[in-house]
Amino acid sequence: MSLATNDSKSGSGKGSGKHFEQVLEKYYELYNKVLAGGSEKAVVLHRSRGKLTARERIETLLDKDSPFLELSALAANGQYDDQFPSAGVVTGVGKVQGRFVVVVANDATVKGGTYIRETIRKHIRAQEIAIDNRLPAIYLVDSGGIFLPEQANVFPDKEDFGRIFSNQARMSAMGIPQVAVVMGSCTAGGAYIPAMCDESIIVKNQGTIFIGGPPLVKAATGEEVTDEELGGGDVHARISGVVDHLAEDDVDALKICRNIVRTFHPEPSQPVNHITSREPHYTPEVLHTLAHTDPSQLIDHEKVIACIVDGSEFQSFKEDYAKTIITGFARIDGFQVGVLANKGVVFGETARKAAHFVQLCNYRKIPMVFLQNITGFIVGKKYEHEGIARDGAKWIHAVATSSVPIISIVTGGSYGAGNYAMAGRAFDPRFLFMWPNARIGVMGGEQAARVLTQLKKAKNKEEVDNQSEEKLYSQIKARYDDESSALYSTSRIWDDGIIDPAATRKILSIVLQIVSARQWPEHRSGVYRM
Ligand code: COA
Repeated sequence: MSLATNDSKSGSGKGSGKHFEQVLEKYYELYNKVLAGGSEKAVVLHRSRGKLTARERIETLLDKDSPFLELSALAANGQYDDQFPSAGVVTGVGKVQGRFVVVVANDATVKGGTYIRETIRKHIRAQEIAIDNRLPAIYLVDSGGIFLPEQANVFPDKEDFGRIFSNQARMSAMGIPQVAVVMGSCTAGGAYIPAMCDESIIVKNQGTIFIGGPPLVKAATGEEVTDEELGGGDVHARISGVVDHLAEDDVDALKICRNIVRTFHPEPSQPVNHITSREPHYTPEVLHTLAHTDPSQLIDHEKVIACIVDGSEFQSFKEDYAKTIITGFARIDGFQVGVLANKGVVFGETARKAAHFVQLCNYRKIPMVFLQNITGFIVGKKYEHEGIARDGAKWIHAVATSSVPIISIVTGGSYGAGNYAMAGRAFDPRFLFMWPNARIGVMGGEQAARVLTQLKKAKNKEEVDNQSEEKLYSQIKARYDDESSALYSTSRIWDDGIIDPAATRKILSIVLQIVSARQWPEHRSGVYRM
């Protein structure tokens, strides 16, 4: 299929409208704000101690001019009175010595780099990415451990603070190299981070590691001791042996870390189908004209594909059958990919076509890109009698058992079971990004408001008159609209971050390189109900 569009290179098309521009502007405003880290006062104090900021540390660690794919930059946005920019931790994937690594850098300018629920989710998600893609992990530690007022939300459960350390042990057993650079406080459970790494570095007169700090020691035993005497660089490099290298300052520590990465054994990468890259026929900004905020309109995925794939060329699969899903092959920056993109509500044949295509990609070892804008599965007696649940199950099976990497981009609304089939978070796509206009929820705000108002009315017929019905409807809709927004999702790490639609191709290119860094497992599918 050729994806001819009538747009010019500068983009004309349907036009996204003013509202999308506002949404994009808002995203950039928030993003630029979090780049500064904590309060100005905290940053000044941090620098006065001779420290680099978390983002500067990452920049110094990574290869010059190499990209850094930052994850969930707007985590915790709109929560905790906005006192935790980026949830106090910067995570992402970048290159050291030409090799992709996962980086987790505490931001000590944000409440002493302490951990709230979202900080932990980001840390664990970064480890998950290291595990899935067999990438070394580097922890730049500068943290006061758990943010104590939140202890009930961050300590006891399976995916809480302790998970970080249990992951470290599992990662080590998988042969994933891990290095810690202790550049500030590293206290209580946090002390296990350097202690469980293969190799650790500490900055002299700056880094400290202890299970219990001086106030706790005094309270417990009466012993009086300074930070440095208890667990400073000299103690751990010379006396305890908890670290392996003593660095002069941040820059020296990061240089030592780079040298350590050079000694890692190379992971066998996945042989992939890759040729010379070609630019699409459309500038990335055309994507701004395709993104919109009107839930009643679908995102024009044919045009989106034309904007992101090499030469705007798309080899369609089953073009004339089950037209509410687009399936086919293309290249992104030279990488062969399979693309699945929604084009309307899911019927039985849509699900069967998608399941077939997912199987093809798995057997051909082709990574898949899912473009999600889905209202869900068709409802009604006719479709239930035809077995829509059985057909949907086939598709969900195929996605869940895929062994090739899946990358999901949510371009518009992603609702209900449609989200599962299109590789929502529960289906372990290797990466999942949201456009700023995207939405995620069990159903759209309007539908939810209608359903809930009907239920309420059926229960209390007398109490719900026209006026109160309208009020109820507006309240429910407003709540659903807020809770399904991309900002709400990204604040809670339901995704790996919001991306500017114009950056979609660039990000997919980096991600395709990352997911090819390890060999993919053999494919094995389950039992399909036919
Ligand atoms: N829980 C809650 N808040 C904490 C905290 C913790 N564990 N550690 C630090 N904070 C807060 C401080 O109250 C302060 O808040 P404010 O900005 O609203 O005033 C902010 O984080 C910065 O802390 P501050 O002590 O002023 O900064 P610092 O850079 O001089 O020291 C630490 C940072 C982390 C070394 C120091 O605060 C500390 O030792 N904290 C306690 C660590 C601890 O015992 N953790 C055990 C929990 S597992």
